[in-house]
Amino acid sequence: MKHGLKLICSLVFAVSVSNTQTIAQDSFDNAIKARKSVMALYAWNLGQLGAMAKGEADYNAEAAATAAENIRILATMNNGAAWPQGSDSTALPGKTRAKVEAWTTYPESAELNKSLATAAIAMAEVAGNGLENVQANIGAIGSACSACHDKFRESQ
Ligand code: HEC
Repeated sequence: MKHGLKLICSLVFAVSVSNTQTIAQDSFDNAIKARKSVMALYAWNLGQLGAMAKGEADYNAEAAATAAENIRILATMNNGAAWPQGSDSTALPGKTRAKVEAWTTYPESAELNKSLATAAIAMAEVAGNGLENVQANIGAIGSACSACHDKFRESQ
C-alpha cells in the first residue's frame, strides 16, 4: 500500500490539491480506465482474428498480420503502472473487476501475462502466411486470456 501510494503521488500532476484521498481516487479511476482500454484493444484485435478463424470474415493476410502484431505489442508493453496497489475489486467494488489476488499472489499475474505474450509472439510470426496459421494459433491466445480471467477477474 505504501509503495502504491508513492507511485500514485508521483503520477499526480495536481500537486496543489491537499486532499490525498481525492488524489488517490482520481488516479485509480484513470489507471482502471487505462487497463480496461488495453483489454478492450485485446478483444478488438482478437475478435478480428477469431472472425477469420471461424469463417465469419474472409481471411485477409494484411489484416490478420496487423491484428496479430497489435496483440503482440499490447502483450509485451509494460503497463504495470495501470495496476496500482489498492485498485482492486475488494477496495473498489463496482469500479473494477480486478481481484485483490492479482496483487497478493504477485508475480502469478505477471507470469500469466508472459504466457499470453508467448502465444501472441507465435501468432504474430505467422498470421500473415495463411488462414491455417491463424486457426492453429488462436486457441493458445484465447486460453491465455481465460487463464488470467479465471483467476484474477471477477465474473461480474
Ligand atoms: C494477466 C491477466 C490478464 C490477461 C493475460 C488478460 N486479461 Fe483481460 N482482464 C484482466 C483483468 C484483471 C480484468 C479486469 C480489469 C478491471 O476491471 O480493472 C480484465 C478485463 C478484461 C475485459 C473487460 C474490460 C472492461 O472494459 O471492463 C476484456 C474485454 C478483456 N479483459 C479481454 C482480454 C483478452 C481478449 C485477453 C487476451 C488477448 C485478455 N483480456 C488477457 C486480466 C487479464
